[in-house]
Amino acid sequence: MKAMLLFVTDIDGTVFDGVYSGSGSGSEFAEVWERHSEGALLAYNTGRSLADGLELIERTELPQPDYFIGSVGTEIYDYSQKKLLLDWNESLVPNWEPGRIDRLVPAFAAGCERQPLACQSEFKRSWFWRDQSEHAIARLKDGLTAENISAQVVYSSSLDLDLLPLAANKGNALCWLAAKLGIAITEVVVAGDSGNDVSMFEPPGVRGIVVANAEPNLRRLIDQMIAHSHYLASMPCAAGVAEGLTALTAGRNHLYPPLKLS
Ligand code: GLC
Ligand code: MG
Repeated sequence: MKAMLLFVTDIDGTVFDGVYSGSGSGSEFAEVWERHSEGALLAYNTGRSLADGLELIERTELPQPDYFIGSVGTEIYDYSQKKLLLDWNESLVPNWEPGRIDRLVPAFAAGCERQPLACQSEFKRSWFWRDQSEHAIARLKDGLTAENISAQVVYSSSLDLDLLPLAANKGNALCWLAAKLGIAITEVVVAGDSGNDVSMFEPPGVRGIVVANAEPNLRRLIDQMIAHSHYLASMPCAAGVAEGLTALTAGRNHLYPPLKLS
């Protein structure tokens, strides 16, 4: 089994449970990371904006990362150098039409509500759109395609609707970062719990941890990936991440997840 040179993890609901309890400390993941960090870089990969994420890291005991990928794979920040990797932003510009997206999404997503201004960014437009079926999401995609919008639709937690440039998303961002660091995807481990994490599990050869509290959609998708090396944890959040890191990096990885879904 390859060494883990880079661990890329979602924050909320994966290494930080404050999203559920309102008062997470991050200390559980800090302990987990202390045990597993040797020889590996840490990158957070979250839907939170850079400002919001940096403030969370300051305020809690979450370990300081080497890289911070924010706004669903649309911003990549070098945490120790304190600077955005602007080459990534440049690659997102072609065909990105935020003005048209802002106007057209409400026409195809009846009842959606724009998220607060702090959740909108240059390459991410977001709405709340509660309890939508796969069919409704497909209709939205079809409507946008008919209007020649080239953007991707990411739906998470039965609530969050994000529109991103086609070249973005959490998975594409982590692949770009790994390549820049000279790290092969087979040396990357990822972890997540919701819809916007799906793309992190897709790069061929990546090892992934799905925590036990993950949304059913993600669990189902991972279970369907036949040739995968992913791990479905039996425990939630940081405890599940600890379980997965042990299994995926200590030679005890099973080709099939220990928990089969019904
Ligand atoms: C975070 C962001 C929000 C986004 C969601 C899902 O909660 O704040 O804007 O929609 O992640 O990606
Ligand atoms: Mg999450």
